[in-house]
Amino acid sequence: MLILAIESSCDETAAAVADIDGSKVNIKSSIIASQIDIHALYGGVVPEIASRAHAEALSRITYEALDVAKVTLKEIDAVAVSYAPGLIGALLTGVNFAKGLAFANNKPLIPVNHIKGHIAASYIENDKIKPPFLALAASGGHTSIINVKNYTEFETIGRTRDDAVGECFDKIARVMGIPYPGGAQMDKLASEGNKNAIKFPSAAVNDDTLDYSFSGLKTAAINHLHNLEQKNEPICKEDVSASLTKTIVESVISKLEKAIDRLGYNTLVVAGGVAANSHLRAGLKEFAEQNNITLAIPSLKYCGDNAAMIAVQAYYEFLEGNVASTDLNAVARP
Ligand code: KG4
Ligand code: ZN
Repeated sequence: MLILAIESSCDETAAAVADIDGSKVNIKSSIIASQIDIHALYGGVVPEIASRAHAEALSRITYEALDVAKVTLKEIDAVAVSYAPGLIGALLTGVNFAKGLAFANNKPLIPVNHIKGHIAASYIENDKIKPPFLALAASGGHTSIINVKNYTEFETIGRTRDDAVGECFDKIARVMGIPYPGGAQMDKLASEGNKNAIKFPSAAVNDDTLDYSFSGLKTAAINHLHNLEQKNEPICKEDVSASLTKTIVESVISKLEKAIDRLGYNTLVVAGGVAANSHLRAGLKEFAEQNNITLAIPSLKYCGDNAAMIAVQAYYEFLEGNVASTDLNAVARP
């Protein structure tokens, strides 16, 4: 099945063409236009600017995806679009564009949940990964532990009660003068720092739930930086990055361990922009090896927002009959 997918939930405009037949996934093109340079000027994503930039880029990116895949709109079997969750204006640009494309060309329109898409990215490079499994979605807007019961039925069993993990990285990076989004830069700095230099509080909520809270950790790190500044003492960005990363990795894994114990699964999928973090990847690998768990983390190009992952999830939504009509709406928080 040849699927054209559109993604515009945050600050990347993306389109992809994928040919999918069961667990055989052939990504024929995956084009991403990042708006990072525009938003970096403001220190974070400006929703209105994101919507305008998507509106300008969508058509160009989509035709580029078709060109690279060497397929025409006629040959496409269905159009898929990420409709939730995300920035409402940004999502709407993609939903409206996809609607127009689908109905003008008489193709089915498949609505895809962005988080489900992130998790489906794990099927692209590993045809052995099949539900049920446990998943962690870790990005700039979301941090959730999910029981993936089958390809389309997901149950969120743990979540952040405040900031997302990527947001925590980005905000602390910003206080240290690292441009938005600082997560990837902190990953590099952490490799050169002492992870035991500063003791930060855990982001794993100290109770029976599978919830996280990153706001206390964020405040502790910001206070640490402000204290040094007030005393006119130098800030070691490497040590802050390494200590913060260590705390985040340990916090994330501690709740995943609990979740695995509870569900009895032996497969763990980790997805989303923060899954690109090299220290988190290494920590998870060690955890998986020690506990005999099959671990799947997409390669870096499929961790951040992309449309290939939306195409893959769309395939399974289509098999379940999840097809939208012209009244499809975007949903910021489903
Ligand atoms: O999934 P994504 O591209 O967009 C959302 O759906 O939010 O995730 C973006 C987030 C940003 O917060 C970014 O700083 C973070 O992923 N990120 C990283 C790394 N690469 C991207 N965080 C930590 N380490 C990285 N290497
Ligand atoms: Zn995302």
